[in-house]
Amino acid sequence: MSESLYIKNACIVNFDSIQENSVIFIENGIISFIGSEADFKAPENVKIIDAEGKYVLPGGIDPHTHFELEFGNTVAVDDFFHGTCAAVAGGTTSIIDFVIPKKGESLLNAYDSWRTRADSKAVCDYALHCAITWWSPQVRDEMAILCKEKGINSFKMFMAYKGLFMLDDSELYETFEHCRDLGAIAQVHAENGDIIAKNTEKLLQSGVRGPEGHQLSRTEDVEAEATNRACVIAHQTNCPLYVVHVMSISAAEEVARARQRWGKNFIFGETLAAALGTTGNEYYDKCWHHAAAHVMSPPLRPNKETPAVLMKMLGDDDLQATGSDNCTFNKNQKELGKDDFSKIPNGVNGVEDRMSVIWEKGVHAGIIDAKKFVAVTSTNAAKIFNIYPQKGSITVGADADLVIWNHKATRTISVKTHHHACDFNIFEGMVCHGVPEIVIVNGNVAFEDGKLNVTAGSGRFVPSNVFNPMIFPK
Ligand code: URP
Ligand code: ZN
Ligand code: ZN
Ligand code: ZN
Repeated sequence: MSESLYIKNACIVNFDSIQENSVIFIENGIISFIGSEADFKAPENVKIIDAEGKYVLPGGIDPHTHFELEFGNTVAVDDFFHGTCAAVAGGTTSIIDFVIPKKGESLLNAYDSWRTRADSKAVCDYALHCAITWWSPQVRDEMAILCKEKGINSFKMFMAYKGLFMLDDSELYETFEHCRDLGAIAQVHAENGDIIAKNTEKLLQSGVRGPEGHQLSRTEDVEAEATNRACVIAHQTNCPLYVVHVMSISAAEEVARARQRWGKNFIFGETLAAALGTTGNEYYDKCWHHAAAHVMSPPLRPNKETPAVLMKMLGDDDLQATGSDNCTFNKNQKELGKDDFSKIPNGVNGVEDRMSVIWEKGVHAGIIDAKKFVAVTSTNAAKIFNIYPQKGSITVGADADLVIWNHKATRTISVKTHHHACDFNIFEGMVCHGVPEIVIVNGNVAFEDGKLNVTAGSGRFVPSNVFNPMIFPK
């Protein structure tokens, strides 16, 4: 049972409002009162937090993590404990991870294994998506069980990773139709896997073996083509679609165009902290480990305009959400691809720094305002994956997941101080305005004075509901 908390002098930022001079009362992990101090004095013996001069934001929701994922012949080092600790220290109070069954594996087995690991280790609440890595009548039946009984209503299909997870267009068509029938939302990893396989072969043959080959094998147009194709399949099957990790301007433009054509409650786009905070020029760093640490798919783009343009597109509602795709590997794991870029395990950090990076590059840079920040770091993901308003809002009855956000303070991101299990941080040295000073998770002060106060396994699974096609009013 959590203690009661009384937050005073709060400037509450929701996606659609800013409410100054407020008090928030929290009991049993739930927000029970929001209003003025005159109407509600602090009861005796409750902890009082003075938020004077700071913002109170809904805790971040990271809709894209891969904790402890077995991938590229190794296992991501941030498990559900380290990953959620890093999340909370950065102001993110819920994450959505992906159950990824191996090809041929039962979805329900994979689900159980994710739940077992997350339930024993997570320090904040979590929800789950499921990846469809192969297609059969069994998969079809198990998707229905996941939706109806297990609280999963979003399914990610891969258009890349040929031979591993990739589905072809007719499989995509059928999985999308099935999602539609179940009331679920389809998600895609949009890159043309056939082109990537050909390019990789050619590059390796011609002697390009370093991390720059990763980017050269999967250029921006390869992402944009698949993004458009996924949007067309969504339209043809009448299935709502969420494009995960949009990394390039061209792909983001495809999402924006599809939204114009086919509806703003139908196509959604997510970009990543990595894409907003760094660029593909890192693949040319003379230090191999530095370059390899940035290897992720789709890759970061060399165009130095990309981060600001993607941020502007979030501001204009061309893109809706931001994730981290946190999938971290140590330097020695990245070395699996020392002589062949295609063997470098794909993935970067971001779950801890996403909020600060987006504040710095978005709000501090003057591209988005504080309300939009809340929308793209929290509320929109909660709405799309239908855990709203339990998550993603500061309203009476919502879970007490809050951040006291000091927008005047700065912090410098570093591997030396981060809470990840990994030995590299792609945002090393970045100075960010926007510091999560106090982070409240389910009514408990989980991070304060730079220190975590959390318990492994205290995070709960939050089932998501079927996709709501009216979630963003016209
Ligand atoms: O490089 C990445 N993105 N690794 C995680 C797996 C995925 O495709 O999301
Ligand atoms: Zn992906
Ligand atoms: Zn280096
Ligand atoms: Zn991912």
